[in-house]
Amino acid sequence: MKKKVALITGITGQDGSFLAKLLLSKNYKVHGIKRRTSFFSTKRIDDVLKEKHSKNQTINLHYGDVTDSVNCFDLIKKIKPDEVYHLAAQSHVAISFEQPYYTANVDFLGTLNMLESIRIYNKKIKFYNAASSEMYGDSRNSIGEQNENTTFNPKSPYAVSKLASFHLTKVYRESYGMFASNGILFNHESEIRGENFLTRKVSKFVAKYSFTKKGILLLGNLDSYRDWGYAPDFVDGIWRILQYKHPDDFVLSSGITHSVKKFVILAFKHIGVELKFKKIGNQYFGYNKLNNNLVLKTINYYYRPNEVNYLKGNYLKAKKKLKWKPKTNINNLIKIMVDNDIENLRKSL
Ligand code: NAP
Ligand code: GDD
Repeated sequence: MKKKVALITGITGQDGSFLAKLLLSKNYKVHGIKRRTSFFSTKRIDDVLKEKHSKNQTINLHYGDVTDSVNCFDLIKKIKPDEVYHLAAQSHVAISFEQPYYTANVDFLGTLNMLESIRIYNKKIKFYNAASSEMYGDSRNSIGEQNENTTFNPKSPYAVSKLASFHLTKVYRESYGMFASNGILFNHESEIRGENFLTRKVSKFVAKYSFTKKGILLLGNLDSYRDWGYAPDFVDGIWRILQYKHPDDFVLSSGITHSVKKFVILAFKHIGVELKFKKIGNQYFGYNKLNNNLVLKTINYYYRPNEVNYLKGNYLKAKKKLKWKPKTNINNLIKIMVDNDIENLRKSL
């Protein structure tokens, strides 16, 4: 049987690398777009690339950038994918306030470039767009959860760009009959999460603290709530979205929300450290309960000009239609992340 061909934009990122490995395990021929960088950027997929010569199963990488429309069209024409997973983005919310044009260019126009390339070359190619729970901003429906029918109220240049690309994907679906679907994904993390996202910043610090019992973790807002899941569970949902009988939009989430403060408490608890907090004005100070040593504080630098205070996703539609549900709870997620960072440190000693 002919292998299905998939093209992943953002293959060097967290989700792209997990998805590539999932698709290889399903016997896909996998292609990915990587940007030219001054350092190698393929760390997350190097294990697969190394197998290139030993097994006939690998990832075919192509240089590219989703802001380059000619490049996008050329790659679609050359690769002739059956499925395109469009994950490439400037994905950091706080940085989108510093680089709003760049974020809009990659996250919105990049999506337009991919959709146009598919429309012109072959409308039968299935398209997945990585939309985000950030698009909800602070809107909640009556049960305090967000689902596919909740109103969007974006709070950052990132969220606005993602919302524009979400609507664009729907426009291509409705106007040209394309199989173009959106995944509205809530936060999902892992041991290979980017190091400037909250969970990884915390897991790395906690791992180091477990060895040194030194250092002060500097954070921003501890009072926001996030619905955190495990990335490998979510890429399985992404794949299911493109296997569904027709194109549609789906929320993928854990369905449970915790404050940032709770995440930090649980991460320290995992290494046997209990925290106690003091709040002076708006600033938090966190101490090791055992010896009263300061281990964390909040500083203005890490606060955002605008914050999404509360995210809790309802994934009922995905559960019913895609038979998808998350498998990893927050305690297991923290265990995976902190233990992996401890192991990384051990190896580097
Ligand atoms: P990530 O780790 O930041 O990966 C982003 C990927 O996009 C990287 O491979 C990056 O390449 C690539 N990229 C950035 N700009 C590009 C450009 N101009 N052209 C080509 N590639 C470019 O993000 P992630 O966590 O895997 O998330 C994947 C997607 O899901 C993103 O669109 C994100 O916005 C969305 N999303 C993520 C979450 C989450 O919680 N993780 C939730 C909802 C939605 P480099 O390696 O060269 O930087
Ligand atoms: N990054 C970061 N760094 N966040 C901090 C810090 C800090 O030092 N201190 C507190 N926070 C808070 C943020 O203000 C936010 O409320 C929460 O921790 C989570 O921040 P991030 O981990 O940066 O993730 P995010 O929720 O802003 O965005 C992620 O999830 C979105 C889906 O909801 C990203 O993966 C986006 O790409 C994704 O769309």
